[in-house]
Amino acid sequence: MEQTKIILSEKEIPQAWYNIQPDLPEPLAPPLHPKTFKPLGPQDLAPIFPMELIKQEVSQERWIDIPDEVLDVYKLWRPTPLHRAYRLEKALNTPARIYYKNESVSPPGSHKPNTAVAQAYYNKKEGVKRIATETGAGQWGSALAFGCNIFGLKSTVYMVKVSYGQKPYRRILMETWGAEVHPSPTKSTNVGKGILEKDPDCPGSLGIAISEAVEDAATHDDTKYSLGSVLNHVILHQTVVGLELKKQLKLAGEKPDILTGCVGGGSNFAGFSFPFVKDKLDGKKIQIIACEPEACPTLTRGPYRYDFGDTAQIAPVVKMFTLGHSFVPPPIHAGGLRYHGDAPLVCLLVNKGIVEARAYHQNSVFEAAVLFARTEGILPAPETAHCIKAAVDEAKKCKETGEEKCIVIAFSGHGHFDLAAYDAYLHKKLEDYAYPEEKIKEALAAVPNIE
Ligand SMILES: Cc1ncc(COP(=O)(O)O)c(C=O)c1O
Repeated sequence: MEQTKIILSEKEIPQAWYNIQPDLPEPLAPPLHPKTFKPLGPQDLAPIFPMELIKQEVSQERWIDIPDEVLDVYKLWRPTPLHRAYRLEKALNTPARIYYKNESVSPPGSHKPNTAVAQAYYNKKEGVKRIATETGAGQWGSALAFGCNIFGLKSTVYMVKVSYGQKPYRRILMETWGAEVHPSPTKSTNVGKGILEKDPDCPGSLGIAISEAVEDAATHDDTKYSLGSVLNHVILHQTVVGLELKKQLKLAGEKPDILTGCVGGGSNFAGFSFPFVKDKLDGKKIQIIACEPEACPTLTRGPYRYDFGDTAQIAPVVKMFTLGHSFVPPPIHAGGLRYHGDAPLVCLLVNKGIVEARAYHQNSVFEAAVLFARTEGILPAPETAHCIKAAVDEAKKCKETGEEKCIVIAFSGHGHFDLAAYDAYLHKKLEDYAYPEEKIKEALAAVPNIE
């Protein structure tokens, strides 16, 4: 009988995170100050981040030790299992071997606590009392609430208003872990007030919620800001996923041909794939596919250029694929994939052709999610379903060609709080939105012109 789950022991949790920066084909373009457009220094970031995380952001060390206190918390759910999707393979009648690395087993139900716990730990160590953050779908907010609760910190979460309405249960989960949650835009920040004056019905966006959380941190001495994706240190923390996966594939006697992951800001995709990007740069043949929604097609339709990380232009300006910082995406159900930009590290690799990007409409994504739920049992998060769609497409290609490829899915989270989205799909009420070209052009007109 073949093994369905490949499980490591707690001793095999990686002891160090992998930093891809020294292995990049070219260095990252420097992040710039949002007012002066000069390269940012550590002192610019100090009001909003603890120093240890600022050091990690720019570190050129390939390996960074994971503190024992963080490893201790990781043990609550790590190592996460690698599953062989036999039943999905059978339903597709494919010669491909499909695996998924299951991050949905964490307490908040996704990969997000891999960094939330680490960030809460470094903030606590530097005497911070409260962390402010944004959340889209509520996955990141709940992970941060969980991490803060473990290390005895307060947390304030600005939740994109459309998701706040769609996902009341995520709010309750955050509150259970002690967070204060506000629908963003709020009237309690200058940024929020300004936006609501112009548009009282604004559905919110991740860009706006980030601006509110940064303003909160910058205006309170005991408070720092925390971002759940995009930044280099967040991606660093997520590499526990890919490092475990490497050991598990070795145990299974496999070498991956195709890796698929969904991209919102890029953290789960990067954490899962970067240890393999290193192999690809060293000459191994691996196809690495980043998946996003057609409604927010950052990597597939945005230009690669400098832009602000947030709507109010207070976050750093970074080089990335972008749809423009004023972009407010349509209210698709994969709330965690509605960000106008993407991690500079992921963007650089897409720009170099090392990672390829694909965009999908939400109905086709939910079709793949339901097939997965009906074969493998687990209900995927709508975000995760994007890369299940890519894996299913690739497995179908294998059926045509007869190739026995090994395909691995970054199963970033479960969809137990996304049942309204499944309801809409199952009852044919889900709309597909492609972002109109004129709207992209309009938002890009406001992007700063920096070479
Ligand atoms: C389950 C899940 N997967 C993926 C994402 C996308 O984020 P990232 O690209 O940072 O992994 C989110 C964001 O909320 C999420 O909740």
